[in-house]
Amino acid sequence: MAIKTIESLREHLQWSVEIEHGTLPPYLCALYSIEEGHNTDAAEVIHSVFMEEMLHLTLAANVLNAIGGSPVLDSPQLMPTYPAFLPHSDEAFQVPLAKFSPESVETFMKIERPSDHDGLPEDDSYETIGQFYEAIEEALGRLSGELGEKVLFTGDPSRQITAEFYYGGAGKIVTVTDLASALAALEEVVEQGEGLQHEEVWDGDQDMFHPERPEVAHYFRFEELAAGRRYQAGDTPQSGPTGSELVVDWGAVHNMRPNPRSSDYPVGSEVRKHMDDFNHTYSGILHLLQEAFNGSPLLLAVSTGVMYGLKEQAQELMSLPTGDGTTTAGPSFEYVPPEERRQATREERRIVVLPGGPYMVYGDVPLVRKRTISSDNGDSLNWEKTEVIETEDVYALCRCGHSTTKPFCDGTHVRIGFEGAKTADIAPTAARQ
Ligand code: FES
Repeated sequence: MAIKTIESLREHLQWSVEIEHGTLPPYLCALYSIEEGHNTDAAEVIHSVFMEEMLHLTLAANVLNAIGGSPVLDSPQLMPTYPAFLPHSDEAFQVPLAKFSPESVETFMKIERPSDHDGLPEDDSYETIGQFYEAIEEALGRLSGELGEKVLFTGDPSRQITAEFYYGGAGKIVTVTDLASALAALEEVVEQGEGLQHEEVWDGDQDMFHPERPEVAHYFRFEELAAGRRYQAGDTPQSGPTGSELVVDWGAVHNMRPNPRSSDYPVGSEVRKHMDDFNHTYSGILHLLQEAFNGSPLLLAVSTGVMYGLKEQAQELMSLPTGDGTTTAGPSFEYVPPEERRQATREERRIVVLPGGPYMVYGDVPLVRKRTISSDNGDSLNWEKTEVIETEDVYALCRCGHSTTKPFCDGTHVRIGFEGAKTADIAPTAARQ
């Protein structure tokens, strides 16, 4: 009964945004640490969980928007110093930024642990994320009853992220306008983490990478990795996974030093430059997400495009030695305040072509639209600037030509299998003549 007012409910839903976001950096670190071409199954597991955490973040934002709140993401609050406790948890365990390993999988299982059957709703210092959501669900129901749904759900529907703006992994986006849809959104979040009715290993969706098979909830997906075996029909949480073998090669992983900090490296050093780049890109993504959840839903797809650059940057970091002879650098996920984003990168302007992906543009390069000015007989004479396009200081431009958010990449290149192979004849002009 601690959530007694709409204001308190909004505050708790902002916490849920922070909790869902809090899982992303650790999952991304583990995912990026897997060496290219190895551990395909494990990479799929972590990738699918990451995608669903993005869905949960979006659903939490939808519920918060539906009750008249404004999700905040571009804030130092979202970027704790790792290792960190999950926001507002009972602080039973810390989550580090670490490579993929048996220990990191164990931590991920703690994050996703299903609630006990007799676990009570907990609106703060929660034991499990499921109990926290139970407290929110209880408050939504109670306040709807006390005040009336019309008084509680006053949010502007145009701030909702609807299916047309969302492409993700398994699971469904829910547009939230009333109590029933709010509860459906939160149920999706809890079931993807813990399993159907909190007692099955399945979450009711189909596997993102293998749509022919039902999907296992996050906790049990990580358990499959720990056990080296998949769940199969008939299995239960008590039986554990008894299906086919799931081979994990714990050695085919970049040996990233845990919990990297940029202050460990001198300004101007190779590692520091790459870390700063990464942090600028990530902070820009947080800004895009905040805008997307505050009335500019198209920017959600734009943030997806930039994430492809993030992967490239993290993997570059993981190829750089730290200097201790055994470990590599890694992404530190440190917050860069908006006022520092543009000035700090201005001298380092460059464009990187991602293989099979977008152009990553670094250093606050101005983006403008131009048209040609032609003479009366149709000859092109000059360029005229027609529009200055607002960007983050790091942004991704579509190279495949199929983005729905041109000129920005929205991730479509992956769905269409864009390879970006050069097709123009690059022989010398004389030879081509
Ligand atoms: S390159 Fe990403 S959508 Fe075109």
